[in-house]
Amino acid sequence: MNTFERLQKLLKDKNVPHQILDSNTDSLDLDEQIQALNMKYREGMGTLLFTTDDGRYIALLRRDDRSVDLKKFRQILKVDTLEMCDIFSLQRLGFESGLLAPLLLDDRVEIFIDRATLEMKKMICGAGDARHALVIKKEDLLKNLHSYKEIDVTFPNPFRQDADNVQIRRVLSGITPSGNALHIGNYFGAVKPQMDLQEKVEKSFYFVADMHALTTIQDKERLEDNIANNVLDFIALGLDPEKSAYFRQSDVPAHCQLMVVLGNYIPFGLMKRMHAFKDKLEKGATVDSINMGLFNYPILMAADILLYKPDGVPVGEDQRQHVELTRDVAQYFNNAYNQGFFPLPEALIQSSYAGKVVGTDGERKMSKSLGNVIGIFEDEEVIKKQIMSCYTDPKRIKATDPGTVEGNPVFVYHDLINEDKEEVNDLKNRYRKGRVGDVEVKEKLFEAHKKRFAKAREKRKEIENNIDLAKDILRSGAKSASEFANVTLEEVYDVIGMKNNLSVLFGE
Ligand code: ADP
Ligand code: TRP
Repeated sequence: MNTFERLQKLLKDKNVPHQILDSNTDSLDLDEQIQALNMKYREGMGTLLFTTDDGRYIALLRRDDRSVDLKKFRQILKVDTLEMCDIFSLQRLGFESGLLAPLLLDDRVEIFIDRATLEMKKMICGAGDARHALVIKKEDLLKNLHSYKEIDVTFPNPFRQDADNVQIRRVLSGITPSGNALHIGNYFGAVKPQMDLQEKVEKSFYFVADMHALTTIQDKERLEDNIANNVLDFIALGLDPEKSAYFRQSDVPAHCQLMVVLGNYIPFGLMKRMHAFKDKLEKGATVDSINMGLFNYPILMAADILLYKPDGVPVGEDQRQHVELTRDVAQYFNNAYNQGFFPLPEALIQSSYAGKVVGTDGERKMSKSLGNVIGIFEDEEVIKKQIMSCYTDPKRIKATDPGTVEGNPVFVYHDLINEDKEEVNDLKNRYRKGRVGDVEVKEKLFEAHKKRFAKAREKRKEIENNIDLAKDILRSGAKSASEFANVTLEEVYDVIGMKNNLSVLFGE
């Protein structure tokens, strides 16, 4: 019996009133499911399964229009790490991969229900496979769980707001110009969400973090080249300078000024735990050799963020810890002076595989420094080579062997890039049955990449080397960012006592 059949049997045996919906799609992508079922995000209830460092299994039932504040959740559970279950743990708990059916959770799993979920009278939840969804009344769901605890650990997810329910107004994000080309990990994890948000929110601030790049780029020409490419890439990918302020960090000195202030509200102990610093140590650097720019990186980043008092910071998963530290700094500052001075920003991270796009090595996250990327604007031959050399399913020797689709990088990329969902479903079905070779899957991926980025590539060619355009955008971006940032800086100076009867900087 597969998971869906087990669920049906359970519903029948226990006589639980319910309805089953058929989405007619095989996609595990929640956004696609919601569209196919013609439902609202806030009607959906997802079951997230985690493991902890002490070996517990934790399920969180939360509404699909809300994201989890993982730090708060970890604190409540009193654990250091909380990771989404991998496919093997899922199987151990009796699930194939898919949209999990909460009613099938047994007592090996501790169940938590987020409070916002309980506002619903009925919910649409997973039925154990990708095709079906279960509609069930709240009481009937709760009655049939082995046990559960109520909890309050979510906030609105701006990517999943229903049109009549938007709650995020101002966003900010930065990108370090440490390389001269974006890859699809950057695009799906950060740039695309940023471009989508610029259409939805009242104000978006995006910037090139050139001062942050000094930790690795200590070469004037390369830095300039990277900055220019970065701006032009963003324009090609949809930046609308009318809607977003796009600027260069060093053009707004308030970033550095606030950084000097914030260093005083952050204990050394917290800084020592930051990944960028720890990774460097793990790679063999000695504490004494690490440059202070790298160590202080998170304080500058906290300043970048807090100056704009954003509701949300759209970034990839690897930046989560930095946003959490920013919240800590804000909290320390607020505790010292004025509760509510800095609103606590939320990290806006794409769920599932877009927030942490796997690299072509199939192991680590895609990252320019690891050389496991698929580019966006490189020559077609380069992109083709990157795609054709992608890692797939190592257990599959011949095209006639049944293959694994879940977690397989080529299918992750198909799900992200290929807009022809019928083709993707067909490829997945044939792959599972051993009726398609890796080469065809990859060639189709290459075609899909060409289609998906055709417009952006054309635009990028058109503005190639148009430094004046880049400069115009940076100029007007810096102007509007400075206006905002300087107000916050002045408020901070006032609160901490840098602005007082003896100040000449701020006038009367
Ligand atoms: P890289 O790791 O290639 O140097 P950056 O650190 O410049 O990338 O990241 C720029 C933005 O892109 C950040 O918001 C980061 O979180 C996001 N990002 C980078 N790599 C990925 C990835 N593999 N998946 C999702 N988002 C990513
Ligand atoms: N650290 C981010 C990166 O490497 C860039 C960054 C700097 C940033 N300051 C920021 C991102 C403020 C978001 C908000 O990609």
